[in-house]
Amino acid sequence: MKVTIVGAGAVGASCAEYIAIKDFASEVVLLDIKEGVAEGKAMDLMQTASLNGFDTKIVGSTNDYSKTADSHVAVVTSGIPRKPGMTREELIGINAGIVKDVVSNLIKHSPEVIVIVVSNPMDTMTYLTHKATGLPKNRIIGMGGALDSARFKYRLSEALECPASDVDGMVIGGHSDTGMVPLTRLAVRNSVPVSKFLSEERLAQVAEDTKVGGATLTKLLGTSAWYAPGAAVSALVQAIACDQKKMFPCSALLDGEYGLSDICIGVPVILGKNGIEKIVEIELDDAEKAKMKESAEGVKKVNALL
Ligand code: LAC
Repeated sequence: MKVTIVGAGAVGASCAEYIAIKDFASEVVLLDIKEGVAEGKAMDLMQTASLNGFDTKIVGSTNDYSKTADSHVAVVTSGIPRKPGMTREELIGINAGIVKDVVSNLIKHSPEVIVIVVSNPMDTMTYLTHKATGLPKNRIIGMGGALDSARFKYRLSEALECPASDVDGMVIGGHSDTGMVPLTRLAVRNSVPVSKFLSEERLAQVAEDTKVGGATLTKLLGTSAWYAPGAAVSALVQAIACDQKKMFPCSALLDGEYGLSDICIGVPVILGKNGIEKIVEIELDDAEKAKMKESAEGVKKVNALL
């Protein structure tokens, strides 16, 4: 099974690394427009194969899409990342043109490819990919909720003073500082609702810290984060490549689900070999419904800038 990652920046390279370490793909093609960078990172990663014990072949390419031919999954990380103080939405002008170009090149060489969009503003870039390609909606997936949920679980584990593996929780809605909807009501520690352990105020703080998770890291790092984004993408790629039928919140094109249409926004989906195998509609309470509606309005405002 072949995977292409477009953009050999920090997110793309860390995604390639996690995929290789998990050893489920036969080949990962890392492609970038900067001369030699993808080849260099691919070679560096290949030199970890005997140390880390994987057989995945990692190939670098400077903008030669013929090397990506017949990919099952392609990850689009291209575009400029956020700088401190910038919102994801401010990247739209530059990134829209880049994403459109990348996706059309990918499809030329892999007509059956499933595309995972990571470039920001992610929900709008996912929507743009649908509009520009007309691909079936199961084959275009936006990565945001898987990352935001991992950050939510981190913040919950911090508040609960327990390992993240002891907690479960999900973030739906738009992948933006104001659009995320952390579902604190449904979050659990080993099947016990977290509200049994944490006050309403503490849970509200967890939700707030989760929503600005990306911005917090951008401020610390001077650019946007890469380890958790790379790991989140690799989990989605694995679910598709290994036909796992796992549930992740992803940005999906909606057609009436959650009362929304003509929008890509984070909702729980089942991922398998066909990409989005199913959109899962969970029962939201009135407050969550209102937050989801507000989040969708925010995403639509950004879509209108396309
Ligand atoms: C973040 C970027 C990947 O949230 O959107 O770190």
